Amino acid sequence: MTTVIENNQQPDRLEVGTPLLEVKDLHVEFHTRDGIAKAVNGVNYSVAAGETLAVLGESGSGKSVTAQTIMGILDMPPGKVTQGEILYRGQDMLKMSNEERRRVRGRKIAMIFQDALSALNPVLSVGYQLGEMFRVHQGASRAEAKAKAIELMDRVRIPAAKQRVNDYPHQFSGGMRQRIMIAMALSLQPDLIIADEPTTALDVTVQAQVMDLLAELQAEYNMGLILITHDLGVVADVADKIAVMYAGRIVETAPVHDLYAKPAHPYTKGLLRSIPRLDQKGQELYAIKGLPPNLLKVPTGCAFNPRCDVATDLCRTETPALHQVTGKDGVELTGRRSACHLWKETLHG
Ligand SMILES: Nc1ncnc2c1ncn2[C@@H]1O[C@H](COP(=O)(O)OP(=O)(O)OP(=O)(O)O)[C@@H](O)[C@H]1O
Ligand code: SF4
Ligand SMILES: [Mg+2]
Repeated sequence: MTTVIENNQQPDRLEVGTPLLEVKDLHVEFHTRDGIAKAVNGVNYSVAAGETLAVLGESGSGKSVTAQTIMGILDMPPGKVTQGEILYRGQDMLKMSNEERRRVRGRKIAMIFQDALSALNPVLSVGYQLGEMFRVHQGASRAEAKAKAIELMDRVRIPAAKQRVNDYPHQFSGGMRQRIMIAMALSLQPDLIIADEPTTALDVTVQAQVMDLLAELQAEYNMGLILITHDLGVVADVADKIAVMYAGRIVETAPVHDLYAKPAHPYTKGLLRSIPRLDQKGQELYAIKGLPPNLLKVPTGCAFNPRCDVATDLCRTETPALHQVTGKDGVELTGRRSACHLWKETLHG
């Protein structure tokens, strides 16, 4: 594949809809002193070129562990993948040779973390760090690498890139540092970007700017984007579809607008009710009662049952499968699934 930065050309654009990544029945556990924590317990999701999947869920639901497993930075003690497949363009990365896996994970899939300051090296200039990609991977000279770093900084709209290329990470604001992280992710021209809470540390206005930039670049290159967040508000405008996670499982999937309009799982319903709304100013904000479960002691049946207002006896004994959701007329609703015994009542009731 040609590189936009190397040749000053547009990169090969992927065709929208090309399947990129499919996670199938993934299980990851941690062996701790107190027992086995099943952090990821049968996760399925997929993302195609040009598509944005938002992965949503409270702290500890397994969002990051799933992402880190995809990136290959987790399958080592105490973490262990016990089951499942991670298909990149149809090929299972868990079965690839080390060399193949490195190539895919290093170049085709890039990750952006929440904390840009700790991801960047404080004693090296941002230009040096951005240029390193080209020196190491493409044998660029120092001057060439610097020129490419400036180009990338321009691309993510860092003002006065030429003057700032020799500055150090701490000399940039949080929002600008996150743009540098995006530039780094883009430098190898990946097919897929996984952004784990990329804007959580930023104030609301800067969050929106960074999110808009990500969405714009994604559309330009037709990349796939997995956006991990615990904030439903952040993803409403940029995501195509949502996967909601609870205690290591996907509990609901849906196209983003369908999920907002009519959730099919009580947990999602609770999350939506807890978003602050302008027309509710002054009123107390709703919060789902209780706390997410300890993964060493996940409740039997539906893991959400102790916190669910509509739980029945069945919920306490039988784990609900991820059901295909249908409309009132019985017709399947595309992309909609819910792991709730009462999904019909929740959706149509
Ligand atoms: N290194 C580890 N050792 C033991 N358990 C771990 C380790 N890393 C993660 N876990 C377990 O996996 C669970 C899921 O963690 P994960 O980081 O995926 O949550 P998350 O959904 O990303 O939450 P957050 O919103 O706080 O980032 C944690 O609650 C923890 O019990
Ligand atoms: S399965 Fe039962 S406990 Fe779980 S979310 Fe549905 S109604 Fe609530
Ligand atoms: Mg996380």
